[in-house]
Amino acid sequence: MLTAIAAVSGNWGIGKDGDLLFNIPEDKKFFRRTTLNHTVIMGRKTLDSLPNGKPFKDRNNIVLSRNRNFSTDGVTVCHDLREVLEIVKNEDAFVAGGGEIYRLMLPFCAKAIITKVGSIPDADTFFPDLDNDANWVLTDQSEEFTYEGLTYRFCTYENTGNEVLIY
Ligand SMILES: NC(=O)c1ccc[n+]([C@@H]2O[C@H](COP(=O)([O-])OP(=O)(O)OC[C@H]3O[C@@H](n4cnc5c(N)ncnc54)[C@H](OP(=O)(O)O)[C@@H]3O)[C@@H](O)[C@H]2O)c1
Repeated sequence: MLTAIAAVSGNWGIGKDGDLLFNIPEDKKFFRRTTLNHTVIMGRKTLDSLPNGKPFKDRNNIVLSRNRNFSTDGVTVCHDLREVLEIVKNEDAFVAGGGEIYRLMLPFCAKAIITKVGSIPDADTFFPDLDNDANWVLTDQSEEFTYEGLTYRFCTYENTGNEVLIY
C-alpha cells in the first residue's frame, strides 16, 4: 500500500525556492518514525533539497528522474511511474514529495498522512487540496501542538474505495 506523507501550510503549500516551509523538530521525528525501514519515493528535486543531497538513512530511497544519466549513492533511480509501482507493489511504501511526485502518485495512494500547519507563508510548490477533493476523506486528526508560535496537527486522509487506482 502507498501512503503520501507531507507537511502542508494552511493553503496546502509545501515548499519555496527548493526548500521546506517549516522546520518543526517533532514533525521531522514523526516523519522519521513513520518511514523508518520502509521505502520512500521522491522526486529528484526533493533529493537535491535534502542536507548535502543525501538520501534518508535507514530507508530504501527511490528517486524519480527522467535523466537516464542520473545516479547517486544509496538511491534507486526510476525513470517512470511504472518502474516505481513495480518495485513497491508488495510493500508499504511512502510517497515523500515534492509537488510533482505527489500529483503524479496520489491516485495510487490509499492514505495521506498530513502535518497541517496553521500558517500561510509564501509558497511556490503545493500539495493537492484534499479538503476539496471528493475522493479524499479526513479520517483522523491529532490534538493541536505548538512550536515557536506555529500550531500544527497530524491528520490522516483516506482515498475512498474504488477511486484508488490499482496497479
Ligand atoms: N512539505 C513537504 O512535506 C515536502 C516534502 C517534499 C518536498 N517538499 C518541497 O517540494 C519542493 C520540490 O518539489 P518539486 O515539485 O519542485 O519537485 P519534485 O517533485 O521533488 O521533483 C521533480 C523532479 O522529479 C522528476 N520527475 C517528475 N515526474 C517524473 C516522471 N513522471 N517520471 C520521471 N521523473 C519524474 C524530474 O526529475 P529530473 O528533472 O531529474 O528529470 C522532476 O524535475 C521543494 O521546495 C521541497 O522542499 C516539501
